Amino acid sequence: MTTPDSAKMGNYPDLAGKTAVVTGGSRGIGAATAAALARNGVAVAVVGRDQAALDGVVAGINDAGGRAMAAAADCTSQSDLDRLHTQVLDQFGAVDIVIAFAGGYGQPVRSTEETAEHWRHVVDSDLTATFLTISAFLPDLIVHRGTAVTMASSSARQATPASAAYAAAKAGVASMTRHLAKELAPQGVRINCVSPATIEHERMRRFMSDEQRQHLLAGFPLGRLGAPDDVASAALFLASGASSWITGITLDIAGGSVMP
Ligand SMILES: NC(=O)c1ccc[n+]([C@@H]2O[C@H](COP(=O)([O-])OP(=O)(O)OC[C@H]3O[C@@H](n4cnc5c(N)ncnc54)[C@H](OP(=O)(O)O)[C@@H]3O)[C@@H](O)[C@H]2O)c1
Repeated sequence: MTTPDSAKMGNYPDLAGKTAVVTGGSRGIGAATAAALARNGVAVAVVGRDQAALDGVVAGINDAGGRAMAAAADCTSQSDLDRLHTQVLDQFGAVDIVIAFAGGYGQPVRSTEETAEHWRHVVDSDLTATFLTISAFLPDLIVHRGTAVTMASSSARQATPASAAYAAAKAGVASMTRHLAKELAPQGVRINCVSPATIEHERMRRFMSDEQRQHLLAGFPLGRLGAPDDVASAALFLASGASSWITGITLDIAGGSVMP
């Protein structure tokens, strides 16, 4: 079973000329999604906190003939998001697409060892940051009858080794997505959620032993771990008009490991 080939990822001509903001765009899944949008003619504001990583992603997109800007912001901070909104408006105009993928912190923590501080950090980084991001760009989405895609995790769908805080925060993202989808549908705004299982990236490959990898692989009926482009491909579809009658869903991107 092979990983997806970016060149074979769907093309969505209706995306050309649109503007997107992609949080979590400085690496991994977000960077792959920013690049995929740019290949479809979308001007992309790439958001994260690591300026050097953002500059690298943006240079890659611009060198490939796309249009991107780097915008450093902490998505847990209302003032950073307000500044980000102004910056994107000034440079690209009102956005049509919000990809709210910033987050993470899914490391295993036994509940007997959980601290209030860590719990709040995870909920803040995964759930609150997602709501604040959507909310900062909501005026644009309403004006443009735009789309948003949020990020859950298979940890929100079934118990996994990730911390309870991460599972609860990601389940909150899926639930919040359904709520916002219903609320905003009359204004023509669609919002959907992607829910990946293990997406392998360079950092993970560095830390995972062959034995751990084989053990993980056994849980995936399709016989491989996920790749960032598996999620980027789904995000493109959900951002495009090809999914115009889909809102409020949580799409499992999980190699057959999640079949609710
Ligand atoms: N990889 C997986 O197996 C997997 C599975 C399910 C769900 N997910 C979710 O997918 C998303 C991306 O994960 P990834 O695997 O690609 O992880 P990653 O490589 O660690 O990327 C995380 C991204 O989120 C950004 N970020 C985190 N907190 C932020 C904050 N407060 N403000 C702004 N940006 C912030 C990071 O930016 P900086 O580093 O620049 O700050 C980085 O771009 C996360 O929400 C994660 O929970 C991942």
